[in-house]
Amino acid sequence: MAKQTWLDFWQKENEFDDSMSMNYAYFLARVEKYIPLSKTQKVLDIGSGPGNLEDAWFDRVVEIHGLDISTRYNKIARSKHAAHPGIYFHDLPADDYLNFGVVANQQFDVIIVMSVVQYYKSAADVETLIRAIKQVAAPGAKALICDLMVGGSVISDILSIMGRSLRQGQLLSMLRLLVRLRFSPYYTVRKENGFLVLSRQEWLDITRRVGVAAHFVDEPLTLQQERMNLLIQF
Ligand SMILES: C[S@@+](CC[C@H](N)C(=O)[O-])C[C@H]1O[C@@H](n2cnc3c(N)ncnc32)[C@H](O)[C@@H]1O
Repeated sequence: MAKQTWLDFWQKENEFDDSMSMNYAYFLARVEKYIPLSKTQKVLDIGSGPGNLEDAWFDRVVEIHGLDISTRYNKIARSKHAAHPGIYFHDLPADDYLNFGVVANQQFDVIIVMSVVQYYKSAADVETLIRAIKQVAAPGAKALICDLMVGGSVISDILSIMGRSLRQGQLLSMLRLLVRLRFSPYYTVRKENGFLVLSRQEWLDITRRVGVAAHFVDEPLTLQQERMNLLIQF
């Protein structure tokens, strides 16, 4: 059988469909400390999935454009937001996912990339992403690239998410998710493809090469506490 890629994984129904919103709630409770919102802002959401950001912000900003390789998620997200003016979801070509041509002549004040980069193929992809973000960033824009795997073991990743879930009163649903993941296609796809992991230094080197001002946010913004969040200020 042909090897399943992450791109195949996200096209099918999967265990994250429901659980992602738990992670997102944690993020939403903290993000505005770094990115204050206003009604005039245009937002770009790269890897928008089922539309968690749009569910929360559709009436907080003037426009949001979600981009995703998963036509399945885009369909779900579009149906939730059909009645909301200014909320758009665009299909990214799976074999050319860094081609943001569909929004190329627009400018955004806020750019969010949540739990996406670990599914990219290489560090070169990440550099292309930051260049693409720079192209569409309005003067004064902020980009937050979140939930970055910068090293550490799978075990410490799991322990950290369990500890945080316990403190959030959600240990049981997290344990249920972890067990389901172990016996799902996720386990095989992860084993065959792994994740893209770049160290903090590699991230900072890339941002220096692209010529953008970036730093890691001090506090965790997602349930997996050792994952990092990179804030770029334009
Ligand atoms: C863990 S989900 C996160 C979704 C959303 N950002 C959230 O946090 O709720 C990962 C998302 O990234 C998308 N994705 C994976 N690889 C991608 C790529 N190369 N380019 C764009 N989106 C991608 C998947 O289809 C999926 O919607």
